[in-house]
Parts: sequence; C-alpha cells; structure tokens
Amino acid sequence: MYPRNPTGHLNFLDTTPSLPFLFLFITILVASQIPFGCTRQVHSSNFTCIESERQALLRLRDSLTDESNRLSSWIGEDCCSWDGISCHKTTGYVVTLDLRNTYLSPSLVNLTNLRYLDLSLNNFSGIRIPTYLGLLKDLRYLNLSDAGFVGEVPHHLGNLSHLRYLDIDLEGCRLVVPHLLYVNFTSLSSLKLSFNQFLNPTLPPWLRNLTGLQDLGLGANNLDDKVHDTFRQMTSLVNLDLGGNHFDTSTLRSICNISSLTSLDMSDNELQGSIPSEIGQFPQLTVLKLSNNRLNDTIPYSLWQLTKLQALYIGANALTGVLSEHHFAKLKELKRLDISLNLLSLHVSSSWVPPFQLQYIGMGSNHLSGRIHLCLGNLRNLRILHLGSNSLYGQIPGSLGNLGELIILQLSKNRFDGKLPPSMQNLKRLQSLDLGENRIADTIPPWIGERLSDLEFLTLQSNNFHGGISNTLCQLPYLQVLNLAHNDLSGSIPHCFKNFTAMESTEPGTFQYSNYTYHDPILHNFKAGIELEYSKNMESVKSISLSGNNLVGEIPDEIMGLVGLQTLNLSKNHLNGRIPKNIGNLKQLETLDLSMNELRGEIPPSLSSIYSLSFLNLSYNKLSGPIPSGNQLQTLNDPSTYEGNIGLCGKPLLNSCPAGESPTENGPVLDDKGHTESDFSWFYAGFGPGFSVGAVGVVGILQFKQSWRYALFK
Ligand SMILES: *[C@@H]1O[C@H](CO)[C@@H](O)[C@H](O)[C@H]1NC(C)=O
Ligand SMILES: *[C@@H]1O[C@H](CO)[C@@H](O)[C@H](O)[C@H]1NC(C)=O
Ligand SMILES: *[C@@H]1O[C@H](CO)[C@@H](O)[C@H](O)[C@H]1NC(C)=O
Ligand SMILES: *[C@@H]1O[C@H](CO)[C@@H](O)[C@H](O)[C@H]1NC(C)=O
Ligand SMILES: *[C@@H]1O[C@H](CO)[C@@H](O)[C@H](O)[C@H]1NC(C)=O
Ligand SMILES: *[C@@H]1O[C@H](CO)[C@@H](O)[C@H](O)[C@H]1NC(C)=O
Ligand SMILES: *[C@@H]1O[C@H](CO)[C@@H](O)[C@H](O)[C@H]1NC(C)=O
Ligand SMILES: *[C@@H]1O[C@H](CO)[C@@H](O)[C@H](O)[C@H]1NC(C)=O
Ligand SMILES: *[C@@H]1O[C@H](CO)[C@@H](O)[C@H](O)[C@H]1NC(C)=O
Ligand SMILES: *[C@@H]1O[C@H](CO)[C@@H](O)[C@H](O)[C@H]1NC(C)=O
Ligand SMILES: *[C@@H]1O[C@H](CO)[C@@H](O)[C@H](O)[C@H]1NC(C)=O
Ligand SMILES: *[C@@H]1O[C@H](CO)[C@@H](O)[C@H](O)[C@H]1NC(C)=O
Repeated sequence: MYPRNPTGHLNFLDTTPSLPFLFLFITILVASQIPFGCTRQVHSSNFTCIESERQALLRLRDSLTDESNRLSSWIGEDCCSWDGISCHKTTGYVVTLDLRNTYLSPSLVNLTNLRYLDLSLNNFSGIRIPTYLGLLKDLRYLNLSDAGFVGEVPHHLGNLSHLRYLDIDLEGCRLVVPHLLYVNFTSLSSLKLSFNQFLNPTLPPWLRNLTGLQDLGLGANNLDDKVHDTFRQMTSLVNLDLGGNHFDTSTLRSICNISSLTSLDMSDNELQGSIPSEIGQFPQLTVLKLSNNRLNDTIPYSLWQLTKLQALYIGANALTGVLSEHHFAKLKELKRLDISLNLLSLHVSSSWVPPFQLQYIGMGSNHLSGRIHLCLGNLRNLRILHLGSNSLYGQIPGSLGNLGELIILQLSKNRFDGKLPPSMQNLKRLQSLDLGENRIADTIPPWIGERLSDLEFLTLQSNNFHGGISNTLCQLPYLQVLNLAHNDLSGSIPHCFKNFTAMESTEPGTFQYSNYTYHDPILHNFKAGIELEYSKNMESVKSISLSGNNLVGEIPDEIMGLVGLQTLNLSKNHLNGRIPKNIGNLKQLETLDLSMNELRGEIPPSLSSIYSLSFLNLSYNKLSGPIPSGNQLQTLNDPSTYEGNIGLCGKPLLNSCPAGESPTENGPVLDDKGHTESDFSWFYAGFGPGFSVGAVGVVGILQFKQSWRYALFK
C-alpha cells in the first residue's frame, strides 16, 4: 500500500505546472449531457413485439432529441430487437427500457481530424477504454481521467503518434497497464499512472521510448525494478513521482543527471545506504521527497547546495550527523522541512537567523535540543508544538505559556522534570496535551480542568504525578482520552468522571485537526499498517487509563454511564469493592483491564453482553463465584484472564464450580505493585502514534524571526 495521501489526491498535483499546449485544437468537450450513441446490447426475442407498445416507443422516440442517433435502430416491426429494449420471453411485453448513457459510440472514429479529446469526468461505469481510440490518429490531447474506465489500457493507443498529452490518471482504478508492443508517441509530455496495477512489477519497456516526457507519475504501483536504465534517457523530465514502489538507490543515481528535474518523489521506496552525492546535480530541484526509506550515513554536502529547494522531506530514514547553520545557509527558498525520525542532531546558535521562512518543520524523534536554546515565547501564532521523542531535559520552560494559540502540545518521551509551569494555564485552546514518559513530579494541577476546557486528549502517563485526582479535572466535557497511567496517584476515582460527556457518546469527537494529520507529509514516514490504523482512529478513540497508580476505593458506578468508552484500564491499583453490575452498559468496550486490584464479589453476568470486547483481564483480584459464560466471553477463554482469583470457578479455569456450594470470597492478598516500565502498549495501539505521527511540527527549536507565518492549517 501507499498511504501517502489517504484522501486520494496524488502528490504530483502539488507541484505539476500546467503544461503549455501550442496547438490549435478542434475541441470536443464531452460532458455527460451530450449523449454518446447506443446503450448496452440486449437480446432480441422471437416475438415481433406488441403493436401498441411499439407505437408507444415510436412516440417516445419522436419526442426525444436524438442528436447522436442512438435511437437509430428504433425502426421496423420487432421493437424487442431495438437497442435498449428487451421483452418478456413468453409474453412479449417490453420489460426493459435502458437508455443509460454508458456507451461510447464508435462513430467517434469518423471524426478523423480530431486532435483534442477530453472524456474526463464522465461515468462510463466500468467499461474498458475503447480500442478504436487508437484510430484517431491525429489526436494530440487525450484526457481519460476520472471517466470510470477500467481494465487494460488498449495497446491500440500506441498508434497515436501525435499524442502529446495522455491523461489516464485514474488513480486507484484497477487499471492494468500492459507491456505495449509498440509505442510511437515519443513526444508525449505527461503520463500519470499512479495508483494502478502494472502487469508485472518491472517497468514496461515502452516507457523507455517516451523520451519526451516532462511529467511522469508512477507512484504507488509496487514497481520493483532494481536493474534498469529506463529514466536515464528521459532528459526532459520535470516532475517525477516514483513514490510507493520498490526502487533502490541505483534508480536514484540513474536519474541524477536529469538536470531539468524540479520535483522528485522517491519516498516509500527501498533506498538504502547514503544519499548519493550526485543529488546535487539537480540545480532546478524545488521538491525532494525521500522520506521513509532506509537511507543512512550523513547527508551529502551537495544536497545543501540545492538552492531552489522549497520542500525537503527526508524523514523516517536512519540519517546521522549534526546539522548546523551552514548547512541551511543556501536554502533561502525553503518552506517545508521534514527531517523527523532520523538520528540527526541540530546544532545552531541561539543568535542564528535562518535564511528561510518556514511554514512547516518536522523534527520529532531525532537526537535533539537539551543543548538547543529554546526560544519558544516568540512563536505566538504557533498551533502545534511537537517536540516528542527527543532528549530535552530540565523544567518545561515557562515561556511556553505565551503560546496562547497552541492546539496541540506534544512533549512526550523526553526527560522533562520538575513541576509544570503555572503559565501553561494560558494555553486555553489546547485540544491535545501529551506530557507522557517524562519525569515530571507534580500534582495534577487544578487549572487543567479549570482553564483548558477544550481538551480532548490528556496524556500524563509515566511521570511522577502524585496526590489525588481532584474533581477539578471533571470540567472537561470534550475529553475523549484520559491517560494517567504509571504515576503515583492516590485516593479514589472521582464520581464526577460522569461529566466527561464526550465519553458518554458513541459518536466520534470533534478533534478538528484529524484532517490535518491526513495531509501531513510526516504521515508518509510510517509504514502502511500503523499509519492507517491511527489516522483512522484519531477522533473516534475514547479511553480511560488509570493503570499503575495507588488508587483505592470502588470503581464508581458513574463510569458505567460513559457508554462510548472503548478502553478502560484500571489495572495495577488497589481498587476494592465489586465490579459494577451494569458494566454491560459499556457496549463499545474493546479492552477492559481490571487486573491486579483487590476487587471482590462475583463477575457481573452483564459482561458477556459486551459484543465488542476483545481483551479482558480480571486476574489477580479477590473475585469469586462462577465465571459467567456465553456470548462474547466464550471467545475470551485464556485462563490467565481470571488467574489469581482463588474464589473463581468454571471455564476456562480448570476447577469446576461445586454444585450448590456457594464459592468462597477469600482470595489471596497479593502484592501487586510491579511497574513494568516498557509496557504501554495499549496507548500506542489505541491512539498515540496517530497523534504523534500526524502532529509533528517542531517550530520552536530554532530562533525564529517574528515575521514567520505558520500556515500549518487550512
Ligand atoms: C426462438 O428463439 C430461439 C433462440 O433465440 C430459437 O432457438 C428458436 O428456434 C426461436 N423460435 C422461433 C419460433 O423462431
Ligand atoms: C463512419 O462514416 C461512414 C460513412 O462516412 C459510415 O458508413 C460508418 O458507419 C461510420 N462509422 C461509424 C462507426 O459511425
Ligand atoms: C457510475 O455508474 C454506475 C452505473 O450507473 C454506478 O453504479 C456508479 O456508482 C457510478 N459511479 C459514479 C462514480 O458515479
Ligand atoms: C484532464 O482532466 C482532468 C479532469 O477534468 C483535469 O483535472 C486535468 O487537468 C486534465 N488534464 C489536462 C492535462 O488538461
Ligand atoms: C496501428 O496502425 C497500423 C497502421 O495503421 C495498423 O496496421 C495496426 O493494426 C495498428 N495497431 C493497432 C494496435 O491499432
Ligand atoms: C523503442 O524504440 C526502439 C528504437 O528506438 C525500437 O526499436 C523499439 O521497438 C521501441 N519500443 C517500443 C515498445 O516502441
Ligand atoms: C512514428 O512516428 C513518426 C513521427 O510521427 C513517424 O514518422 C513514423 O512513421 C511513425 N512510425 C510508425 C511505425 O507509425
Ligand atoms: C545521463 O547519463 C546517460 C548515460 O549515463 C546518458 O545517456 C544521458 O544522456 C545523460 N543525460 C544527461 C541529461 O546528461
Ligand atoms: C548503511 O546501510 C548499509 C546497508 O543498507 C550498510 O552496509 C552500511 O554499513 C550502513 N552505513 C552506515 C554508515 O550505517
Ligand atoms: C459535573 O456536571 C454537573 C452538571 O453539569 C455540575 O453541576 C457539576 O458541578 C460538575 N462537577 C464537577 C466536579 O465539575
Ligand atoms: C492478565 O494480567 C496478568 C497480570 O498482568 C498477566 O499475567 C496475564 O497474562 C494477563 N492475561 C491476559 C489474557 O492478558
Ligand atoms: C493496562 O495498562 C497497563 C499499564 O499501563 C498495561 O500493562 C496493560 O497492558 C494495559 N492493559 C491493556 C489491556 O492494554
């Protein structure tokens, strides 16, 4: 798969300049309101049809303006044999009148001087591209995009020797591209075949003959052709999209002398080793996408000489080295830069004034900035700050509070410690706050609930937050994800959790930047499975995790009102009392982990009615009585789901319930305070990467000029 742009738009559209056509065309713009000839074939019957019906059809024919003569067969006695008509086998009544406009009339070929044919934006509902188009020998322009064609591109098109423009951009249309026997359209300037199927994974030999191509889109075709020199001769290429295939570095080398190239996309391929230093031989290059490959080593100096670069995407590789001011010195045009998910360090002085005006920077998951002076306070228009997975340490700087427009703040997986700066309460627009996996030692400040009332995602997991969970947190009606796992929180779970009204709903939340994540180039940095999973989930995930704390008391009944919950993880606490009887209300629940607590009593039978439940763990509690069976519980038959509850009996445990005997309520008292620092899998499986992947925007690392604009959002 090729998940670069899940909305279905192809990347080459970003950068493709419209090509000039210097011909005078006879223009036939075929739009859907102009009928094309006849409908599908229908078989005639033995009947000469019923005369009154024939008359009716004739009147119908006469009332229609039949410009394209598609009713020309409507003559003679046997109306059952007319095009578009079929009659009942035995009665002879007309049963089908099909004048649907899905057939492209071959009479088109009589337009022998046709030079320009645009069939785009029609719906030929799945017919093949007609072979007779190959007879329109004078065609210069043929646009078949978005016309509903399927099947093979007929090799007859190979006879269109004057064709300069063939648009069969039929993205994801099951188009099978053949190995043409012969092509004689060497003057073709644009060919876009992204998201299709090639007959085999090697490049079709005829491509090599298209030496006049300026635009070539072959993205997302799973092409795998390591040894070839197809592109070498294409010295007119301006835009080349090879993303989402299996090309390797030798392909990149082979095109490095095409000096006319302005845009090159080889992201999601199998590039490995160093970026070839020949990359500097593209003096016109404005867009370079090499993300999500296996490139390693340092970035060659020649890359930094590409003075026209506007967009540089090299994220998700294994590139190393230290980037400093002089690397960027010549990139005055740069607007978008993604170097995230590499092993790069950045070393620039705090007084550096970058030569470019960036709109977007992704630098997450590198070996950054403790060393880098954070000058955050100036970035007053910043909406997204993503500094996740770096090695930042010390207290979170108070100047962060100046970023009053922030919507997403992602500081997870660093080494921040100390308390949260009170100035953070000014971040009133925050919808997502992720401070997970740091060393912050603080109580959960009341202003999170009182001031950050737009919050939808709150992640404080794996820090040293201590003290109780106060009622103030309950003032977050839009909250969908609450993750306080692996801290040192004590006290009980507030009953007012019922105020998380977004979790009471089974509808997706309103997180307004999920679209943004779809369009973000950093998305291309992740392999298909992961990326799709998360981008899909972003606004619909609803979960509470309080696991791995010191919480006591009962599970509040009120939580059973949060019927939108998909994950409830209260494991590894000291919760006691019973599992609420109406837990079966949580019909959306997929994961329920109550293991390692001190819960008593019976397992409520209503649990078996949660059909979405795919993970359950009630182990190491003091539960007793028969394990309910039936429905969904039938499938959750791993005995370790229930182990460590001495009073439980029945399947899937080995001890069957003694008939008529009431089960004991005395389970073992277990010391359950075993934190496993690495096991945060639920978070990642549910939500984390979708967020961190989508929202990379480290715009706080460098010393920014006040005038910069952050056009991160539409
Ligand atoms: C009717 O048509 C069928 C098949 O089309 C043919 O086999 C049959 O002989 C025809 N009957 C008459 C009476 O024409
Ligand atoms: C093309 O025109 C000729 C006459 O000029 C006609 O006989 C033929 O049927 C036409 N072909 C089609 C496909 O309409
Ligand atoms: C095209 O037409 C077919 C049949 O009429 C229909 O099933 C299909 O949904 C249409 N496709 C679009 C994109 O309108
Ligand atoms: C082909 O048609 C599509 C849809 O109408 C249009 O977007 C595209 O620009 C056309 N191609 C050319 C080269 O005109
Ligand atoms: C291409 O044109 C030649 C000569 O006009 C003809 O013989 C051949 O059949 C055509 N091929 C196709 C595939 O239409
Ligand atoms: C490509 O061009 C060569 C000569 O330049 C020719 O021999 C070959 O048949 C052509 N291939 C196709 C598929 O047209
Ligand atoms: C190929 O196209 C060229 C230029 O249009 C023409 O001279 C040549 O005859 C064509 N060859 C064939 C086999 O059609
Ligand atoms: C690129 O190199 C190949 C051979 O290595 C050569 O045939 C081609 O003409 C060169 N292209 C340019 C633009 O120099
Ligand atoms: C880069 O990767 C290649 C294999 O892809 C390996 O042989 C080489 O040692 C690596 N180089 C560095 C500097 O890691
Ligand atoms: C919960 O919501 C109710 C009703 O909206 C409100 O009266 C109450 O104060 C809220 N509780 C907390 C702790 O915010
Ligand atoms: C349930 O949790 C216990 C304790 O963490 C673990 O040993 C067991 O494997 C878990 N069972 C399942 C089915 O995940
Ligand atoms: C619940 O949270 C704990 C600790 O974070 C984790 O080990 C466990 O796997 C989680 N349970 C599920 C089902 O994800």
